[in-house]
Amino acid sequence: MPINPFKLERYFAKYEFNTKYMLSSSDCESLGMAELLQMASPASLELWESLKLGYTEAPGHPLLRAEVAKLYPNISPENVLIAVPEEAIFIAMQTLLAPGDHVIVLTPSYQSLSEIARSIDCQVTPWQLEPTLSGWELDLGQLERSLTDQTRLLVFNFPNNPTGYIPSRQDFDAIIGLARKHNLTIFSDEMYRLLESDSALRLPSVADIYEKGIALSGLSKSFALPGLRLGWLTTQDYGLIERWLAFKDYLTICNSAPAEILGIIALQNADQIVQRNLEIIRENITSAEQFFKKHQDKVVWNSPRAGSIAFPKWLGTESVEQFCQNVLEEQGVMIVPANLFDFPGSHFRIGLGRKNFSEALEHVDEYLGQ
Ligand SMILES: Cc1ncc(COP(=O)(O)O)c(C=O)c1O
Repeated sequence: MPINPFKLERYFAKYEFNTKYMLSSSDCESLGMAELLQMASPASLELWESLKLGYTEAPGHPLLRAEVAKLYPNISPENVLIAVPEEAIFIAMQTLLAPGDHVIVLTPSYQSLSEIARSIDCQVTPWQLEPTLSGWELDLGQLERSLTDQTRLLVFNFPNNPTGYIPSRQDFDAIIGLARKHNLTIFSDEMYRLLESDSALRLPSVADIYEKGIALSGLSKSFALPGLRLGWLTTQDYGLIERWLAFKDYLTICNSAPAEILGIIALQNADQIVQRNLEIIRENITSAEQFFKKHQDKVVWNSPRAGSIAFPKWLGTESVEQFCQNVLEEQGVMIVPANLFDFPGSHFRIGLGRKNFSEALEHVDEYLGQ
């Protein structure tokens, strides 16, 4: 089956570089080059200054894989493959799935998590996050009822894009237990991990706790470095790493040499960078709470427990698509409506990681006050 256009990415392609206020971006305010280099140790700075711009090692720079492995108690550097995050999803799905396989995918979520499987002629069943008045809920019973003899893969993304949902540790363990009982592989998109509002909410990585678990993470969201185009797949199953490498030869082959050194510097300063991003998100959540309280007749707001995004519900008289279009045209504020996630509710996505968040809200306020 041909692959469908990626609705969200096509929408961003249209507006991201010509719109003043990006109120739906999922990444945190990007770090500057100077800011990052200032954090570098003398040894890393030497790596940067003496760098030769040749091809690089296909699985990733050994130091970069070692830094990534430090984030996972049970993962060694050999069990890490460095790739562009979106590329990593493509590699994993193409190597794990065959036509006719059944795949269960948490929904709403990032389109490639279901679309690639669909394009391989897999049968894809959504596992629906449900909105409630106090936030999002996940029905484990629905997951169990969706299982068939053909189910090969369970795909989820916590903290979730776009809802900001994260399950309790108890529910998470129950999901892993169910996967183990049915011998399912799990693909866990952990791009927003480390951005929990309280570190007690942080879940272990699937790669650390499940023998058939694959975790995706990267520097685009929690580390505020999307322009490096660096992410990674981790798994306890070394055989998978070899299959992924063979597939990667048909994509990027290897990673960008400068990006890898900058990635090493970022991971050596992981705590500081994540802390900086959490502070931006916390401040923006405070502004959002005040703003949506003022506009509670138009929007149902629940602050997310994790991640850099939220998915509030629009209650206004015009459709949510019309609201987003009007705010874009009249105020220069880009907001993503729920239909770009194929979600039927009147929700819209709000990004909480940008420094001009309050200024963007002032423009939405002006629109709503009209
Ligand atoms: C959940 C999720 N997974 C993967 C990606 C892909 O990351 P990147 O755009 O850095 O390739 C994104 C990007 O928005 C995302 O939100």
